[in-house]
Amino acid sequence: MTENNQVTLTINGKEVQAEKGTPIIEAARQNGIEIPHFCYHKRLSVPANCRMCLVEIKGAPKPTPSCYTPVMQDMEVHTDSPVAKKAQKGVMELLLINHPLDCPICDQGGMCDLQDMAVGYGSDRSHYQEEKRAVEDKNLGPLIRTVMTRCIHCTRCIRFATEVAGVPEMGATGRGENMKVGTYVEKALESELSGNMIDLCPVGALCSKPYSFTARPWELEHTDSIDTMDGLGSAVRVYHRGGKVMRIDPIENNEINEEWLSDAGRFSYDGLGRNRLTTPMLRKNGKLSECGWPQAFEAIKEAVSKAKPATTMGLAGEQLSAEDLFSFNAFMKQTLKTDNVDARHDGSTVTAGPRAKYVFGGGVQSVDKADLVLLVGSDPRLEAPVLNARIRKNVMNNGLKVLSVGAHSDLTYPVETAENTAQVIEQIAAGEHKFSKLLEKAERPMIIVGAKATLARKDAPQLFHKLHHIADAYGVVTKAWYGFNVLNVSSTRVAALDLEVYPEQKGKDTDGILTALKGGKVDLLVLYGEGNTHIPVADLEGAKTTIFIGTHKSAYAHLADIVLPSATYTEKSALWVNTEGRVQEGKKAVNPPMQAKEDWKIFRALSGELGKALPFDSQQQLRALMIKKAPVLEQVGELVTPTWEKFGVAGKVKNEAFELPIQQFYKTNAIMRASQVMDESQELAEARKAAQQTKKAS
Ligand code: SF4
Ligand code: SF4
Ligand code: FES
Repeated sequence: MTENNQVTLTINGKEVQAEKGTPIIEAARQNGIEIPHFCYHKRLSVPANCRMCLVEIKGAPKPTPSCYTPVMQDMEVHTDSPVAKKAQKGVMELLLINHPLDCPICDQGGMCDLQDMAVGYGSDRSHYQEEKRAVEDKNLGPLIRTVMTRCIHCTRCIRFATEVAGVPEMGATGRGENMKVGTYVEKALESELSGNMIDLCPVGALCSKPYSFTARPWELEHTDSIDTMDGLGSAVRVYHRGGKVMRIDPIENNEINEEWLSDAGRFSYDGLGRNRLTTPMLRKNGKLSECGWPQAFEAIKEAVSKAKPATTMGLAGEQLSAEDLFSFNAFMKQTLKTDNVDARHDGSTVTAGPRAKYVFGGGVQSVDKADLVLLVGSDPRLEAPVLNARIRKNVMNNGLKVLSVGAHSDLTYPVETAENTAQVIEQIAAGEHKFSKLLEKAERPMIIVGAKATLARKDAPQLFHKLHHIADAYGVVTKAWYGFNVLNVSSTRVAALDLEVYPEQKGKDTDGILTALKGGKVDLLVLYGEGNTHIPVADLEGAKTTIFIGTHKSAYAHLADIVLPSATYTEKSALWVNTEGRVQEGKKAVNPPMQAKEDWKIFRALSGELGKALPFDSQQQLRALMIKKAPVLEQVGELVTPTWEKFGVAGKVKNEAFELPIQQFYKTNAIMRASQVMDESQELAEARKAAQQTKKAS
């Protein structure tokens, strides 16, 4: 045997090396040899029930499933010998006995594993003449369409629901020909990750309901982008046709999303096209009506000429890229000469400085190594469902212990919960809480702080001071381990802080702007995008002139006197900074609709019209300036561990509970609020919650 636990074997006559214990199917894949398979999936348990992966092993009496058999020293494997081929052909023939001849009308056509395998490894005729069985379809809710007659019983969906999503509602009933896969009780799956079963299903039994019959894979172009529905920055592939986004799927990225995507990221794309702002608008006689860009710019010029910098204010919302935020900030501070600017619409007062206080500095992947997680005001299931699946994986595989202070939903794994008050943090810091002992014992403890429920608190500086103390006292941050992580729900927040999109010289912050609006002291209000935390529209009334720059015809747009249409994340090439502080580039998939424009171009053009042009004419120049302001933005794709510096302010924390960070998962941003699919999902979630409460009460 060679060093490092490696064994040497031959596959199809080629000598290869693999780690001891690796299944033959993986060893073959690592060496560029594909073995046909259906039930095997590298991130799920191995049931070895489809038998499609049979191979010939020298000395074995009969063909052997390669997904279940580990490599051994001097093993001789043949994946394409006459014996292996005959076995694979036989299995394919058996699988197809009951499979319908649906390909021309099947949504999976063109991206179907069974279709591909049948061509590659099947026969062109069958020995069987019997009638095919039919299975009734299941209603799995608004996201997944089922055609259960096509199911080949691979059980991937069942294993995903049970092992990854943590909702053991899928199962198989009956045996042999009567076996049926579905939910035990006919209902929609209670998971924010359910769409991943569509990718896992090797046939067209589970398909995307919103995508059904809208396109064929060969008609679509695709562009790689970054999901902006939460702060994780999952890698996605945007499929589009004729300038319209038709489908969004995850791309494998082991450092962040493995190969999963939340249902919000996958299914909210209909919101990209619904209720969009497509032309500039001006309020005339109390009503917003369409106009051209020159007229809108003229109106803005007039409003700016009447407003003083001290009474000019700007708020930035969500789903804004680094370029968007930088150009907005520069427009407000340099062109309009006001410091009354804030992108922290939740009222948080955190500023740049030690990045450690606002990023998930250890990186998402470090969750796999932790042996204890303390959640503070965090509900990872709703804040970042894919991250929650990682925590669950560690709980299931290694017995990770999870503690929580704060409100949360059912996290799909056991959690030891303390009383929901920030004072518990004080007790832990003083070593007087039962969690103190557990933290002390842990070798790689991790703290996950929910940004939404903590950073907007008035006592956030004191709370973070205590958390820093806990991190130091219990080895959460050491030379060898970085376990202090802040979980941002927003895809915008880290970039906004890095780029200092807040008052830098005593200007008004969000609270100050809202107070000024209440007192009628605002001449010009620039609302850029919408927030996750919906500031009540009534609180934004009161400015003499309100300009809205955004993507959707929302209540915010209806409040404005001048409306400028901008681009969504699929309509621009841009840098996004995820909760880890990692910079990632999303590419432009389609053009903004009709007269809508990319955001930085709007601010550049407007600044020129106003006589104080911003100093960039191209995205390249803009990025160079942006990087000068925040050099960390240059390190695209890299995880930059923050330096562990002091933060927070000594003092008492308030005896106040942490609020549930997400109330309506399917409605967290403008795109999701415009999506009909997300509407239906939210309705379903609320009906389910109401039913559970009634059941509890009775
Ligand atoms: Fe054809 Fe695949 Fe659909 Fe079956 S699942 S009908 S093989 S496209
Ligand atoms: Fe496999 Fe699809 Fe059937 Fe589930 S529905 S068992 S994933 S074939
Ligand atoms: Fe090996 Fe199914 S892939 S038995």
